[in-house]
Amino acid sequence: MEHSTAESRIMTQRNYSPADLLMMGFDQTLRTLFGRPQVTERLNPARDMDETDLSEQERDESARLMRINHTGEVCAQALYQGQALTAKLPEVRKSMERAAQEENDHLAWCENRLHELDNRKSLLNPFWYAGSFMIGAAAGLVGDKWSLGFVAETEHQVETHLNEHLGRLAVNDEKSRAILQQMKEDEIHHATVALEAGGAKLPGPVKSAMKLTSKLMTKSVYYL
Ligand SMILES: [Fe+2]
Ligand SMILES: [Fe+2]
Repeated sequence: MEHSTAESRIMTQRNYSPADLLMMGFDQTLRTLFGRPQVTERLNPARDMDETDLSEQERDESARLMRINHTGEVCAQALYQGQALTAKLPEVRKSMERAAQEENDHLAWCENRLHELDNRKSLLNPFWYAGSFMIGAAAGLVGDKWSLGFVAETEHQVETHLNEHLGRLAVNDEKSRAILQQMKEDEIHHATVALEAGGAKLPGPVKSAMKLTSKLMTKSVYYL
């Protein structure tokens, strides 16, 4: 059951019961992990690019990096969905809606690139999805300004991580590079949106815990 952007806008404007929200959340979870996520009108930035020559080693490294980025986007979906479930102000949910949909673009682009590189999604995705969902829901419960601050900090950390991956990709892998470059621009924008919506600056220990968690994710997904 695909929803258009207009339909989903109407969905967020209606008042749903907790049971409705739970069912819609479940639907989104299945789409994120196993199905076709709801994307925006934007096209894959690498769609018109030709495949370049990559050695077997370069190809393998690109695939591992794209797998990490794909899992990162699974986590982003879970965080946004968790937060949407517990966000107090409907405006917060609304201001995050477009960002969450753009994360689905990222998810689809990374998955597509993984196929092109003849590789697979991470086996750990359900685990990281569940963990991120709980973290997102908890952030939403603490309060909207903290939850938005959490989004901004996540996006800053993802930007740093994407810079690192852009440095590690084979110079020749223009397709993966084009995708990561566009993702980076989007994440910077998402951080700005969250801050403008009232996001607070997170305490240092929280930031460190977030960095440690993402390190665990990137290390495990590189292999699995
Ligand atoms: Fe993203
Ligand atoms: Fe983002």
